[in-house]
Amino acid sequence: MHSLSDIVGLYENRFDTHPLLVRSCGRINIIGEHTDYNDGFVLPAAVDKYIYFAIGENGTTESHLFAADIKQSHSFDINKIEPCEKLWANYLMGIMQQLQERGVPLEGVDCVFGGNLPIGSGLSSSAALECGFALGLKTLFQVEASLVELAQLAQRSSHQFVGIPCGIMDQFASLLGRAGQAIKLDCRSLQYEYIPLELGECELVLINTKVHHELASSEYPVRVKECREGVEAIRQYHPEVKSLRDISLAMLEEHRAALPEVIYRRCAYVIRENGRLEEAAICLAEGRMERLGELLLLTHEGLRDDYEVSSPELDFLVAFAKGFDGVLGARLMGGGFGGCTINLVRKEAKEKFLREASKAYFRQFGIHSEYYFVRPVDGTTVVREE
Ligand code: GLA
Repeated sequence: MHSLSDIVGLYENRFDTHPLLVRSCGRINIIGEHTDYNDGFVLPAAVDKYIYFAIGENGTTESHLFAADIKQSHSFDINKIEPCEKLWANYLMGIMQQLQERGVPLEGVDCVFGGNLPIGSGLSSSAALECGFALGLKTLFQVEASLVELAQLAQRSSHQFVGIPCGIMDQFASLLGRAGQAIKLDCRSLQYEYIPLELGECELVLINTKVHHELASSEYPVRVKECREGVEAIRQYHPEVKSLRDISLAMLEEHRAALPEVIYRRCAYVIRENGRLEEAAICLAEGRMERLGELLLLTHEGLRDDYEVSSPELDFLVAFAKGFDGVLGARLMGGGFGGCTINLVRKEAKEKFLREASKAYFRQFGIHSEYYFVRPVDGTTVVREE
């Protein structure tokens, strides 16, 4: 855990220059999980869990990175950027490489970063890493790029350099978040609108299982492929279909026999999830919290039974939440196989719920969970120019 001034101090101990400072955000997602890479909709928000970056150019071709939270460093020649065994370094080097591919003449940089964004918890610390560094380099080297273009660049870097075929939700939310709002994003057109995240008597709280299964990275590309397989199969009958976005439940049912059972379930989940998101956005606008809670629970069931990206720890916490007076809904958040649940809780029940959930979870798994209160905030931003 580091504050902005800690990061500045660590930078100044190591390097001579006066750094640029960037504050990068994690994100939550209200609903719309595993829909982004299927051209669907998502409803995320940037939140007040941050990674702070101090960055300065150093006039050489060497770059020096220091990850303060885990006390690791990595140096590399900007003319020979290659993936290494440190995943965090790959997220940063990938951004530099993408900028070079755009023809941006870079120099080496010195960079120290760290903050209070929990890693591997489903709050997308990886997108926060990419986006904070990307915004820092854009500012240092005066790159002409909009925030949307920067989000796309970061996503390409994940695909091409890190090797993760992620959607655009995390990078988009980190960069384009706005205080008090969720973003309803159409991942096909990248059109978006802000929806006030006003929850009346309720609040969103996150509970971290503190478990991150290896499956999180290995199964993600499998799900991406399975969805594509479903699209290919339906395309035989409907040539106009480009993605699951173009397939209705009725079409899917009509051709169910042409699909392996597992592919059918994956596709049905995604199609229903887009429908739930539309309804959830209306519930938010109309203040219908009870129905919003039900939708979260339905999403969890879909992720558990049809998309199969849950885990015993996540299922336990969601079942506990479901049976708790004053909790309207809960589900796993993010890619799955660990990380956080997101819970819609009446304010007066919050303290008791968190206390009891943490006790029950410890009794069951012997693990101390953590909880977070988060606020939707303005996205990743430069906090001080050099
Ligand atoms: C991860 C990916 C996102 C999205 C979610 C699941 O966070 O990075 O693009 O696919 O999983 O909704």
